[in-house]
Amino acid sequence: MHKPVLLNEVINFLDPQPGEFIIDGTFGSGGHAQEILKKLGPDGKLLGVDWDEQSFSVHAISDSRFSYEVANYSDLSEILKNLLAGRQVKTFKADGLLLDLGFSSEQLGSGRGFSFQKDEPLLMAYNSVTKPAKDVLKDLSEEELAGVIKNFGEERFFGRIARAIKDQEKIKPIETTGELVQAISRAVPMGYERGRIHPATRTFQALRIYVNNELGNLEKVLKHLEEILNPGGRVVIISFHSLEDRIVKNYFRDFKKVGKLKILTKKPITASLEEIAINPRSRSAKLRAAEIL
Ligand SMILES: C[S@@+](CC[C@H](N)C(=O)[O-])C[C@H]1O[C@@H](n2cnc3c(N)ncnc32)[C@H](O)[C@@H]1O
Repeated sequence: MHKPVLLNEVINFLDPQPGEFIIDGTFGSGGHAQEILKKLGPDGKLLGVDWDEQSFSVHAISDSRFSYEVANYSDLSEILKNLLAGRQVKTFKADGLLLDLGFSSEQLGSGRGFSFQKDEPLLMAYNSVTKPAKDVLKDLSEEELAGVIKNFGEERFFGRIARAIKDQEKIKPIETTGELVQAISRAVPMGYERGRIHPATRTFQALRIYVNNELGNLEKVLKHLEEILNPGGRVVIISFHSLEDRIVKNYFRDFKKVGKLKILTKKPITASLEEIAINPRSRSAKLRAAEIL
C-alpha cells in the first residue's frame, strides 16, 4: 500500500475549508484525497487527476463530492475550461491544488519497470500511451542519452553509461530493467559512490524523468497557476529530488517578486524522524506551499 507522505503538513498548508473546491493533481492511491475530503463539508468538491489509468479503477472514491479525470496535471487549466462549459459562471477555478510528485509505492511494485531491484519490462511510463523507456533507449543517440543521464540524473559517469547502453543496444536491444542494470554496472567503476547508492539509481531517475517529461509538466502547471487557482487559493507541492524542488522554489520566488503569490514555507518542510521510520519514502520529500494573491 502507498502511504501518503507529510499528510498533516499537506492538510495544514492546503487548509481545505467547507464548501471549497480542491484539486489533487496526483491522486495516486487517494491517501491525501481521502483526508482532504473530510474537511470539505457537504458542499465542497474534490477533483482527482492522475495520468495512470489504473489509479482510479482501483482507488476512485465513492462520494458525490468527488470526481476524477485521467489526465496530465499540466493540462489543468484546459481541464478547468472544459468543466466550465454549461455552467452559469465566467471562471471556474480551485481554492487549493496539491501535487505529490513522482511515482507511488504501488507503481514501484507494479511490474512496469520503475524498480531496478526486480527484473521486469523496461517501461517506466505512468500510463499506456507514453513511449516506454525501452523504445526511448533505441531512439536516442549516445550523445542525447548522455545528456539525459547527466541533466536528469546528475550522474557523474553519464558518458560511460550512455556508451555501455548503446553498445548493448547494438548486440541485443535492452528490454528489461535487469538488462539495463547490467549495462550500467559494467560501465561504472568498482566501489561506485562507496556503495552508498546502487549504481543504477541516478540513471533510472533520469530515464523516468525524461520518459514522462516530468520537469516539463511541473513547469507548465506552475506557469498556469493563476488560471487554476482563485485569489487566496493555496498550492502545495511535494518533490522528491533536487531538480523538482529547484523548479518549485524558483517559480515561487519569481512570482513573489511580481506580487502574484505569498510563500507560506520559508524553507521546505521535511518529514519527521518518526515519519521516516514508518515510511522510508518520506526521507527525500520536500514540501513547499504558497498562496495566490
Ligand atoms: C506520489 S504519487 C501520489 C500519491 C497520492 N498523493 C496518495 O496519497 O496516494 C504520484 C502520482 O502522480 C501521478 N502522476 C505523475 N505525473 C503525473 C502527471 N503529469 N499528471 C498526472 N498524474 C501524474 C502518478 O501516476 C502517481 O499516481
